[in-house]
Amino acid sequence: MKVVSVINYKGGVGKTTVTSNIGAELAFRGLKVLVIDLDPQTNLTFSFIRPDEWQADYADDKTIKKIFDSFVDGENYDINRLIFSPSRVASALSGNGKLSLISSHLGLINVDLELATLLGGANMKQTKNNFLKVHRRLVESLNEIDENEFDVVIIDCPPNFNIVTKNAIVASDYVLVPTRPDFLSTLGIDYLIRSMNELIEDYNEFSGAEDTEFEEIEPATIGVLFTMIQERSEEPINAQSAYIRQIQRQGGLHVFENYIKRNDTLFASAPESGVPVVLRPQSQSTYKNVVKGLEKVAEEFAQLIDLEV
Ligand SMILES: Nc1ncnc2c1ncn2[C@@H]1O[C@H](COP(=O)(O)OP(=O)(O)O)[C@@H](O)[C@H]1O
Ligand SMILES: [Mg+2]
Repeated sequence: MKVVSVINYKGGVGKTTVTSNIGAELAFRGLKVLVIDLDPQTNLTFSFIRPDEWQADYADDKTIKKIFDSFVDGENYDINRLIFSPSRVASALSGNGKLSLISSHLGLINVDLELATLLGGANMKQTKNNFLKVHRRLVESLNEIDENEFDVVIIDCPPNFNIVTKNAIVASDYVLVPTRPDFLSTLGIDYLIRSMNELIEDYNEFSGAEDTEFEEIEPATIGVLFTMIQERSEEPINAQSAYIRQIQRQGGLHVFENYIKRNDTLFASAPESGVPVVLRPQSQSTYKNVVKGLEKVAEEFAQLIDLEV
């Protein structure tokens, strides 16, 4: 079971769209996929189930907030009880793989504050232990899932670097950074990578202490995936390709060969249908091209993390 976090400080860069479409395509190709909505904005959740359905069946005790709440209360809650398979996307998979979801909750915003109160301690040893306990909440929960239940877990992170987001990084084997090809979106990538490295360093320093039992973490950055690309003659328009080249030139980070094309018509309505764009049949050639591009992105993603599809 491979765990991947989809992360960027910036909102609106396509994190949720990337998570739902890669997740759905991999499931369509036969994999067992779990997507986790870690963003209190609950966009991934409502890309798969209707708000009224969520309110009735999930809001109270079937969201990711539950595992953090129970932790704050000094209890444990079995993460397996939060996992379900949304029905509309299940029909679109026509019996191939599996796409399951853990939904999010607006109240997750407050969880960060509560977790922060559990940090610190009377001495260095307590401080280290509390740091590890608080940042390991999600990975400990994921460890309760049967290894054979899923091939891959994809976590849609919120656009910040708070404790809940850090939990995702600690739990991850890989990190994927989607970005739009514009100045402000690409600006944050450097800073994000630096923040992640700082977290990994701190964590490993604490977990490496003699009196702790945890292994070091080393989440690998899969790379930068460009989203919302406008094409002309099947190439990104000049204004955008400049930013793609800039990230490529910086080196250090892999840049996906494939990208997600921009199409307002397709992407605006997809969440309401409960089925990601990549799984919706299209007859018009422009739309078919967008879907083809998404399929290639999913393929490249699978290749980069050694998943067979
Ligand atoms: N390739 C695309 N073309 C057009 N619109 C897109 C595309 N990808 C995402 N969008 C739209 O842009 C907005 C932000 O995307 P989203 O995936 O929610 O970003 P994030 O999760 O990073 O905030 C959404 O309204 C979404 O429908
Ligand atoms: Mg989002």
